[in-house]
Amino acid sequence: MVSEMQSSMTTDTVFTVRNLSVYYGSLLAVRGVNLDIPKNQITAFIGPSGCGKSTVLRCFNRTNDLIPGARIEGKIEYHDQDLYSKKTDPIDIRRRIGMVFQKPNPFPKSIYNNVAYGARINGYQGNMDELVERSLKGAALWDEVKDKLKESGLSLSGGQQQRLCIARAIAVQPEVILMDEPCSALDPISTLKIEELMNDLKQNYTIVIVTHNMQQATRVSDITAFFNAEESLESSNKIGFLVEYDLTQNIFHNPQNKDTKNYVSGRFG
Ligand SMILES: Nc1ncnc2c1ncn2[C@@H]1O[C@H](COP(=O)(O)OP(=O)(O)OP(=O)(O)O)[C@@H](O)[C@H]1O
Ligand SMILES: [Mg+2]
Repeated sequence: MVSEMQSSMTTDTVFTVRNLSVYYGSLLAVRGVNLDIPKNQITAFIGPSGCGKSTVLRCFNRTNDLIPGARIEGKIEYHDQDLYSKKTDPIDIRRRIGMVFQKPNPFPKSIYNNVAYGARINGYQGNMDELVERSLKGAALWDEVKDKLKESGLSLSGGQQQRLCIARAIAVQPEVILMDEPCSALDPISTLKIEELMNDLKQNYTIVIVTHNMQQATRVSDITAFFNAEESLESSNKIGFLVEYDLTQNIFHNPQNKDTKNYVSGRFG
């Protein structure tokens, strides 16, 4: 399946995940994930609650490091770099690999400063007005906010706030944007706007999105990874694992695994 997928694509690989397991303290949350994330594509993570989608997503920009007791086994390569090597600077990684969360979380600052903040911290030397405008345009928000850049980011609607967070993420010129259920707090119109935006963004960025919305996965993603969880013999917690990943059309129309088929057809989860 993977070789078929790779042969039908012409893109580079951004992340290579090999035998990744993630622990929280002594608890094994996700085991043995093998996955490649292709450049300039949208990869969707789907699967029932608790199967480890957010956990794996956070490994890509090392935000799991910020959770006490979290640790990984196995390997993630970012291009040819070992993401978890001592030589890798997690701060630099988080600049190159941005994140957008489920709940829009603008800073309590002006719209302008929400976008400029990260660039300023990184010592951006270019024209800040231009960067802010370009980022807001990139997030399809410019027309709605251009006359009120000094107003608080918190004064915007939820859908606008989420696009502001996307503008903030792209202002530091990352290569990858990780999105953890970015539309789950949004109405259908805002959701469609974000989906259209993702389609534009993938020209310049690699996107990995976690979603519980099957229609969304089919509408936006090129590749889909289905995760599931099984009972653990040692503890009451379930252990997450990757069942299969493939071109989205195959996952939804011709999955190899019966659990994938049941899940995408809404029979469980
Ligand atoms: N900060 C944490 N500390 C301890 N355990 C955690 C932490 N975050 C997640 N876990 C555990 O790891 C497992 C996977 O959780 P995770 O949040 O990655 O699942 P998910 O697939 O994103 O679920 P959902 O669809 O509900 O968001 C769960 O058993 C969860 O309890
Ligand atoms: Mg999650």
